[in-house]
Amino acid sequence: MIISGTELSARLKAEMAAQMPQLEKEYGRVPCLAVILVGENPASQSYVKGKIKACEVVGMTSLLITMDASVSEAELLAKIAELNAAPDVDGVLVQLPLPAGIDESKVIDAISVEKDVDGFHPSNVAKLWLNEPCILPCTPKGIMKMIEETGIQVKGKKAVVVGRSNIVGKPVAKLLLDANATVTIAHSRTEDLAAVCREADILVAAVGKEAVITADMIKPGAVVIDVGVNRGADGKLHGDVDFAGAVEVAGAITPVPGGVGPMTICMLMSNTIECFKKRMTVNG
Ligand code: GUN
Repeated sequence: MIISGTELSARLKAEMAAQMPQLEKEYGRVPCLAVILVGENPASQSYVKGKIKACEVVGMTSLLITMDASVSEAELLAKIAELNAAPDVDGVLVQLPLPAGIDESKVIDAISVEKDVDGFHPSNVAKLWLNEPCILPCTPKGIMKMIEETGIQVKGKKAVVVGRSNIVGKPVAKLLLDANATVTIAHSRTEDLAAVCREADILVAAVGKEAVITADMIKPGAVVIDVGVNRGADGKLHGDVDFAGAVEVAGAITPVPGGVGPMTICMLMSNTIECFKKRMTVNG
């Protein structure tokens, strides 16, 4: 089984689009996502384009703010403060990475917790680990939806997450733990990574290196989620998993492209709607 993020996200976006008339009727407007893009990193430009496009597809409003790579940290923080205060903006996202000289954690801290659609703010991270209601980071949330889609029961299964980043590895491990999997976080210093991976009923590869996970590292029938987006020597996008080999062994696997990527953007839409609803209810 190939888990198509393109298809699943299209279905979920259509469901969200169908909610828009009701939201507009109830609250007088549709949700609005503000995206700040600093500089001209081609990958970031492409991701941001995808995010703005998704807002259109879902029928939400978007606000794209582009800033020169030479922008000062103070100017960026001032823009965030303005968007935090804007009553008609529900989500504020600053595309990462930021140019050298701008402190990313300062920038993330500056985003209002109520508008933190990425789920990167320390308050949201803390709430996630304390089992309190919070905005979930988009990629981990999308991964859980894809696993759900396979119909497998996560409870009691062995899950191995390869990679320990703040935006994918660590939060997805927490979500798998919450779903009652037995979770291992492996990384670049793990001894005998192949043996650790072969134990996994659910294997999440979030390393950022092409084809580090090969067919011999996969337990037959396992669910394999490939978070990697690596530009190969052939100029094409490749995952962290050697797909051609892995697809023969895995029970279900996500492709790259067309797997986790579209689901991440789809969950951003879902988070924006969530923030909108919460703000509208709290602020009357
Ligand atoms: N850069 C790479 N992934 C992400 C993401 O999910 N959110 C933001 N803001 N920047 C990113």
